[in-house]
Amino acid sequence: MRSQRWPSFFFGKVQRLCPNENGSRPFQGPPSVWWFMTNDSDAAELCEPFVVQGPLFTLLNDRSVGTYTYLDNGSMVVGDQGKILYVGPSVPAEYSHYQVKKTRHLIFPGFIDAHVHYPQLPVIASYGASLLEWLDKYTFPEEAKYSQRPYAEKRARQFLELMLKRGVTSAAVFSTIHEEAFDALLGAASYSGFNLVSGVTAMNRGAPDNVLVDVGLFKEVSAKAIESGRCVERFRYAITPRFAISCTEGMLEYCGRLLESNPSLLMQTHINETKEEVLATSNLFPHATDYLDVYDAFGLLSDRSLFAHGIYTTESEYERWAASGASVIHCPTSNTFLGSGLFDASGYISRDINVGMGSDVGGGVSLNPFVTMSEAYKVAKLGGRVLDPFQLVYWHTLGGAKAINQAGFIGSLEPGKWADFCLIDITSDDLGFEAWERSNSVQEKLFGLTFLSHDSMNKVVETYAGGISRWKDATCQGPE
Ligand code: GUN
Ligand code: ZN
Repeated sequence: MRSQRWPSFFFGKVQRLCPNENGSRPFQGPPSVWWFMTNDSDAAELCEPFVVQGPLFTLLNDRSVGTYTYLDNGSMVVGDQGKILYVGPSVPAEYSHYQVKKTRHLIFPGFIDAHVHYPQLPVIASYGASLLEWLDKYTFPEEAKYSQRPYAEKRARQFLELMLKRGVTSAAVFSTIHEEAFDALLGAASYSGFNLVSGVTAMNRGAPDNVLVDVGLFKEVSAKAIESGRCVERFRYAITPRFAISCTEGMLEYCGRLLESNPSLLMQTHINETKEEVLATSNLFPHATDYLDVYDAFGLLSDRSLFAHGIYTTESEYERWAASGASVIHCPTSNTFLGSGLFDASGYISRDINVGMGSDVGGGVSLNPFVTMSEAYKVAKLGGRVLDPFQLVYWHTLGGAKAINQAGFIGSLEPGKWADFCLIDITSDDLGFEAWERSNSVQEKLFGLTFLSHDSMNKVVETYAGGISRWKDATCQGPE
């Protein structure tokens, strides 16, 4: 079903939105957000069931990273609820009447960007500063603009379009302190089929007033935002204290209480990103034994917690981290661009701590998952570890799904999961195709794709979320 076209790259209908008890709509968007919402608030988004047929790769949701399916000519059956019904070499008889879409492009699970800041798109590639200076000089002035709803809406749509264009179908996204910024993102995501995790940012010190919010107002704004989010089908709310030094004890205490009181909430923040920040944290929280202890003391360390960066993690932090079930989100392009440091993959892998991948735009310089994975490979190699291509793909798909507690629904192409996938051109007549063809194993093929897709014609040409095509490369010619 392709009911409306707004914006031009979103091919779906608004996801399920419910009215409040009093019958009003759950969040206060302006007309430009409102008009695309349907009155039929309980209507699930339906798609025509279909079979997509072509080369297919997916890791499997298994304890071992190397379990996968690769088929030169596979079939994936997608039902009318946007979920996968079957993946295998041929179409079972019961689905033989479904429409078949044949493709020469690689059918691949949608990527999960487990740490990204949507208001920072305009400050990507800002020159020469390290983290704290970069925040002051470039980031906070930009984030202040998101109190303006039309600006936030424009940026939210731009952000989601770029994500879909890169094959990303799920993300844990930082917003700002402003309810306008959160509403704009939620509104745009609810229309696009995108699987969104986000929350209103908590920060009440260490920055200009126009990006700070006091605890009282934060409580009000987050209560509204949590309520709005409950009604959007592919949305999970994440309590989002920016990082320890931007929050007072009172703010962290409130965030911790929220997390403990509601098991459906996630928590996302930053940790151990730069030496300067680690030092500032220990100065502001002198009683804490280490950085992780600050979060733990306020009830923010749990298996629903996502910690971005984790570069300067100590032995005792690793131990506590592993015991908690929390995830680390590795953001390699940010770490090299800001000069923050080199992530120690072995530290987390050896302790069985779940790892997701984040672009961390605008500290990171690309939303492209292949760029992020290739940077992770290089960072690990500088640390003496050669990462398996399956490991990289795992982090950017199933690792991210686990981090946001959705491994049962997303992260791989398996029956019962959402049909979130992209089609990757592997047959462009250039270097990329040669690398694909000459590779003797699936690992080598993925490795070549990871490193060459930035420079070759190979790239994502179409992205589906919930079984509906949400973005398609208009320049893509010839047989699909
Ligand atoms: N630490 C606190 N805020 C930020 C941010 O916006 N980006 C990065 N990379 N680190 C942070
Ligand atoms: Zn970040």
